[in-house]
Amino acid sequence: MSHPIKPRLNVAALRILIAAACLSLASCGGNHSALNPAGPQSERIGNLWWLLFTVSVIVFVLVVAFMLYGAYRSRRRNNAATDENAERRMARAVSIAVAVTVVTLFGLLVASVLTGRAISPPPSGDFLTIKITGHQWWWEVEYEDPVASQRVTTANEIHIPTGQTVMLKLTSHDVIHSFWVPSLHGKKDLIPDHEIITTIQADAPGTFRGQCAEFCGHQHAHMAFFIIAEPPDQFQAWLENQRKPSVQPADQLQARGQQVFLTKSCVLCHTIQGTPAGAHVGPNLTHVASRQTIAAGTIPFAHDSLARWVVDSQSVKPGNRMPQNMLSPEELQALLAYLESLK
Ligand code: CUA
Repeated sequence: MSHPIKPRLNVAALRILIAAACLSLASCGGNHSALNPAGPQSERIGNLWWLLFTVSVIVFVLVVAFMLYGAYRSRRRNNAATDENAERRMARAVSIAVAVTVVTLFGLLVASVLTGRAISPPPSGDFLTIKITGHQWWWEVEYEDPVASQRVTTANEIHIPTGQTVMLKLTSHDVIHSFWVPSLHGKKDLIPDHEIITTIQADAPGTFRGQCAEFCGHQHAHMAFFIIAEPPDQFQAWLENQRKPSVQPADQLQARGQQVFLTKSCVLCHTIQGTPAGAHVGPNLTHVASRQTIAAGTIPFAHDSLARWVVDSQSVKPGNRMPQNMLSPEELQALLAYLESLK
C-alpha cells in the first residue's frame, strides 16, 4: 500500500529548502556583492573569503564528527575501568588537535597578510586619481589634474575606465564615513583631515553600487553611490564633457529657470560652472542631468522626483541640509527645465 501524504510533504520541504538556497545564492550576485568580484582587488578578497569558508566548513565537520565519535565511545566504555593506555591516547589526541589548530590558524594568518599586501596600493605610478570626500550624506568626487581647468567635480557617481588601476584619495568633510563597493574592493574609512589612499580596478564595463559602511548619522543608509566602469574611449568622452562649463539656456523657460536658480536659495549652496553660482555646501550641479540618481542614490533623476526634491527634500531624506524651497509653480517648472538641461 502506498502512502501518498508523506512523500508529498517531503517534496514540499525539499522545494522550500531549494528555494531558500537559491534565494541566498541570488543575494550573493548582482552589482553589490563581495562574492561577485569585478576587479583584481575584490577577486583577491573573494578568494580569501572562499579559503576561510572552506577551512571553516572542514573544521566544523571534523569537530562534529569527533564529538559524535567521542560520545559513542564513552557510552560503550562507560562502565569499564580506567585504562592507562586510553588516558595516554587521549593526551596524544589533544596534543595533535592543538598542533593542527595552531598550524591552521597560522596558515590563515599568512593568507590574510598576503591578501592585504596584494591589494594595498602600489607606492607610485601614473594613475587616474580621484579625490573622494564624504559629506553628511553624499559623496564629493574630484578628478585631479595638474591643469586646474581640466579638473572635474561631480557627486555620487564615479566614472572610471575599465582595465586601469584608478587611485582614490579618501577623506571626509565632517564625520567618519566608509567607502565600500563590494564588487570592487573592501571597506575603507574616510576620516576628517586625513587622506587614505586605495586603488580599484574594474575588469569589464558595468555599474557597481557602493554604500557608506560606517554609521554617520541620520541618513547613513541613504548614502549610496555608483561606480560606472566604461571602456577607456567612452570614459574619456564622459570626462571631456564634464570638463566643459554648463550649457547655456536654450530657450526662454530654461533662461527663466537659470534666473530662479541664481536668485533663490539654490545659489547659496551649489556650483554651476559657467554661471555666478560657486558655493560648495552641496553637490556641484554643472552636469547634474548627466547623473542617474540624486540625493546619493536615493531617488532617480527624473522630473517628478527632482520636483519633490527641490520643493521638499526633507520628505525624501529627513535631516539632510537642503532647506524647503517655496517656489511658485511657474518658477518650479522653469527651474526643473533648466536643471534637466544640464547634461
Ligand atoms: Cu556616511 Cu554612513
